[in-house]
Amino acid sequence: MPMNPTQIQLIQPDDWHLHIRDGAVMKDVLADTVRQFARAIIMPNLKPPVTTVDLANTYRARILAQLKLLDVDSFTPLMTLYLTNNTSVDEVRKAKLAGIAAFKLYPAGATTNSDAGVSDLKHCHAALEAMQAVGMPLLVHGEVTNSQVDIFDREAVFIDQVLEPLRKTFPELKIVFEHITTLQAAHYVRDATTAGKNTIAATITPQHLLMNRNAIFNGGIRPHHYCLPVLKREEHRLALLEVATSGNPRFFLGTDSAPHAKGAKEAACGCAGCYSAFNAMGLYAEAFESVGKLDRLEGFASFFGPDFYTLPRNSKKITLVKQAQNIPHELPLGSETIVPLRAGETIAWSLG
Ligand code: DOR
Ligand code: ZN
Repeated sequence: MPMNPTQIQLIQPDDWHLHIRDGAVMKDVLADTVRQFARAIIMPNLKPPVTTVDLANTYRARILAQLKLLDVDSFTPLMTLYLTNNTSVDEVRKAKLAGIAAFKLYPAGATTNSDAGVSDLKHCHAALEAMQAVGMPLLVHGEVTNSQVDIFDREAVFIDQVLEPLRKTFPELKIVFEHITTLQAAHYVRDATTAGKNTIAATITPQHLLMNRNAIFNGGIRPHHYCLPVLKREEHRLALLEVATSGNPRFFLGTDSAPHAKGAKEAACGCAGCYSAFNAMGLYAEAFESVGKLDRLEGFASFFGPDFYTLPRNSKKITLVKQAQNIPHELPLGSETIVPLRAGETIAWSLG
């Protein structure tokens, strides 16, 4: 690859962590994702959450119906189930047979629609054992929920209190540490020893590669930069950028694009979530280019995810061009609007 390329071609990427919600808004957010990605891991934190294979199948049918309205037949939603204190061994086995891609662990109270999440992993022992046995990945929202723990420390504390014990008990369970935000998480995943097959990986969002916590308070409170886990200090952003661009297959793309209507973000108690789907690949290209590592983008975006999930890599190619794209102030979201990441600004790369 030349030193400063003005366009790059890569195998079509997938988004290994995505929220598309349900009902009227789903079509609008799906339209942004399908322009760029061939597949996406669909998060199950609906209200009520997607806790069973039957619920996931009906959710998938609603997604496919919206894709049909968009005239898209080239996109595959990869369904997940929401782990609860009551998830049964039977449901895990059924999920495996039904082609469910993973279970998602939300510690109860950690984030948007997590009330039904797990209060203590000891309730999930049998389900986790079954997941380990059938090769079902566990995706974790890695934050402790104890209000005594400072919000900026919740991910690092989760590693010691939850993740490390979990991996000791279930050494063959495949785990994805989702949307990591700290140096501690980046180094934990990088340095984890696994016996035989790799069992640990992490997804990284564009906002955590591009911004630090100053972005939440830049000249005033910036609700559109608030997500969970919350942005951290610059040293953490640099550690994430380092591992994401290192070529280490344990790190791959997951936008965590999480749509909330403008009014729900710009409120006295604004919701957590950044809407990055509009030009997510442009944002990632900016991040990789900032450290001269555009040549590593394809592995991160298109290869390491499917390899971890043991799915085939995509074959189609996409082109990204170094052409600044103006990002609208607002986009339609059902009967409301949404403010995308970088609203009113530009993103240096766009889809060719
Ligand atoms: O910022 C976030 N938004 N973090 C999450 O974990 C959930 C997500 C959402 O669903 O809105
Ligand atoms: Zn998420």
